[in-house]
Amino acid sequence: MSGTTTQGPQETRIFAPSAAFAAQAAVAGMDAYNALCAEAAADYEGFWARLAKEHLDWQTPFTRTLNEDNAPFYQWFEDGKLNVSYNCLDRNLQNGNADKTAIIFEADDGTATHVSYRQLHEKVCKFANGLKARGIKKGDRVIIYMSMSVEGVAAMQACARIGATHSVVFGGFSAKSLQERIIDAGAVAVITADEQLRGGKRLPLKAIVDEALGLGGCDSVKDVIVYRRTGGDIAFKAGRDLWLHELVDGQSADCEPEWVEAEHPLFILYTSGSTGTPKGVQHASGGYLLWAALTMKWSFDIKPSDVYWCTADIGWVTGHSYIAYGPTAVGATQVVFEGIPTYPHAGRFWETVAKHKVSIFYTAPTAIRSLIKASDVDPKVHPKNFDLSSLRLLGSVGEPINPEAWMWYYTQVGGEKCPIVDTFWQTETGGHMITPLPGATPMVPGSCTLPLPGIMTAIVDESGQDVPNGQGGILVVKRPWPSMIRTIWNNPERFKTSYFPEELGGKMYLAGDGAIRNKDTGYFTITGRIDDVLNVSGHRMGTMEIESALVANPLVAEAAVVGKPDDTTGESICAFVVLKQARPTGDEAKKLALELRNWVAKEIGPIAKPKEIRFGDNLPKTRSGKIMRRLLRVLAKGESITQDVSTLENPAILEQLKETS
Ligand code: WTA
Repeated sequence: MSGTTTQGPQETRIFAPSAAFAAQAAVAGMDAYNALCAEAAADYEGFWARLAKEHLDWQTPFTRTLNEDNAPFYQWFEDGKLNVSYNCLDRNLQNGNADKTAIIFEADDGTATHVSYRQLHEKVCKFANGLKARGIKKGDRVIIYMSMSVEGVAAMQACARIGATHSVVFGGFSAKSLQERIIDAGAVAVITADEQLRGGKRLPLKAIVDEALGLGGCDSVKDVIVYRRTGGDIAFKAGRDLWLHELVDGQSADCEPEWVEAEHPLFILYTSGSTGTPKGVQHASGGYLLWAALTMKWSFDIKPSDVYWCTADIGWVTGHSYIAYGPTAVGATQVVFEGIPTYPHAGRFWETVAKHKVSIFYTAPTAIRSLIKASDVDPKVHPKNFDLSSLRLLGSVGEPINPEAWMWYYTQVGGEKCPIVDTFWQTETGGHMITPLPGATPMVPGSCTLPLPGIMTAIVDESGQDVPNGQGGILVVKRPWPSMIRTIWNNPERFKTSYFPEELGGKMYLAGDGAIRNKDTGYFTITGRIDDVLNVSGHRMGTMEIESALVANPLVAEAAVVGKPDDTTGESICAFVVLKQARPTGDEAKKLALELRNWVAKEIGPIAKPKEIRFGDNLPKTRSGKIMRRLLRVLAKGESITQDVSTLENPAILEQLKETS
């Protein structure tokens, strides 16, 4: 474990929430926050039991809150039964929200459609009955490979309703990545769309599913269910493929929910780690939904009158917790956006906020940074040209937000009146972990501030000992929490070694990030991953995966991939490649770099394309043959090497790898 920093955050600006915001907030002031923390500290299980009873509807109440007998395979609320879709939909029909808008679908072309809770419930019930009619049942796995749509959310909810475990695969992943996930999950069905519309372009989905299934090994898949989005021309395989509208036609609008145990796997979501293939992060039903719902109230201060908008895609965990499940569980009205931030112009986010009177807006720092740049180039797309007076809270997620981007977000978008919640969390944590509470915590740009009540985060050294504030270390969570990852699908051993390593005593959750706490405030600042995971535009990727993709190309002998700081995307991918043929230069190098970038797009997906490829005769290696990635990181940044290179077998190679060929 390396890469932790001992540099303290220098930021001294501090912004307290306004008195007006604090007065109406769910957690109003630091005293209220401290009281919740004290309650958790005094009676940890009692605290979570109270919240689980207050915020979820149980068909069978639980009597045991936490079972630690088989740690780190923790179980929460294990003898309780519930249904996630019942909690997200039926509850809203009973509590007066039936005609409230659940989803405002903002299509790529600017068309908006309102779907009420009653309509969403009906859609989900028909969908669920359709799945049942195909023989899909509790415990089956279903892959969802869809664009942003009401149907995408409904597909997830329909699986939850019948107790099928879904695994959503981001629509930007390649056929090969999709095939790997289908095989690992042992999926019985794939739900997809004919095509997706993004930025005015039609992009294939069904064709990629066909390709994935054609790669072989996917015999478990019996059905491919296709939502007609564009009406584009697609191939149909008789007996396997069916249209969603035909599947739901004539189905009953009622579907008795399948009551499942709290620990029943709601979903598997694949994410990257430092080694090997992507890991299928498995989440439970009860604990997960509790935290998705509760953080909507605590972190976002959601109120019945809010219009909430999270710009994430349902293919990522943010789209699970903060689109498909959290907002519906609390009966919110939310915008679901099909498009991209720069189409038809880079003011699209602000125009849409004004159009739907969005009051809570949640996006990623990479989007903010690219929109800052765009409005420098074209002042017409600057937020000041749009009526953003409806906004009352802003959120950030997915990567560290640099103080300049934070200040722009705060002043130019939020008009200095909206608190910003910089929410630190992960696919594995299920929901927010460290974040300001908008009516309580004084904010410091670039710091995610303090853990949520009940979340026992700490910073330790490599032997698991606490480090003092002001000294960087490894971020851990010392107690299990309800929405935590339950295991890695098909690989419980990997779950243990990845997240509960013996070096740290086997009981602390290892987040994989470095962090530091401010000496005076105790505030947390995340200093970045301590493993070989990159964060490009808020998308998580393992360097190993990209290296494996590159060496799978017949031209490539060896490859090493590192991250390079990037003004817009946070990090960018820089690949050092040794070919089987002589090292190319000039136009030949350009041509081959393009070929390899496209190759990676085909192997993993366009998000994994290296931004830069440098060719060498070799890679810097120790005498024992280990690639010195540390030096490659320095070279990628364009800095000169000041480290000791005496252990290097071939120091001359550094000169060659300094620049793009
Ligand atoms: C990073 C996304 C700093 C971090 C929800 C983490 C952040 C990884 C923040 C998880 C934040 C996420 N500040 N870093 N507010 N939020 N990260 O699984 O490195 O796609 O480990 O989950 O993103 O990415 P994932």
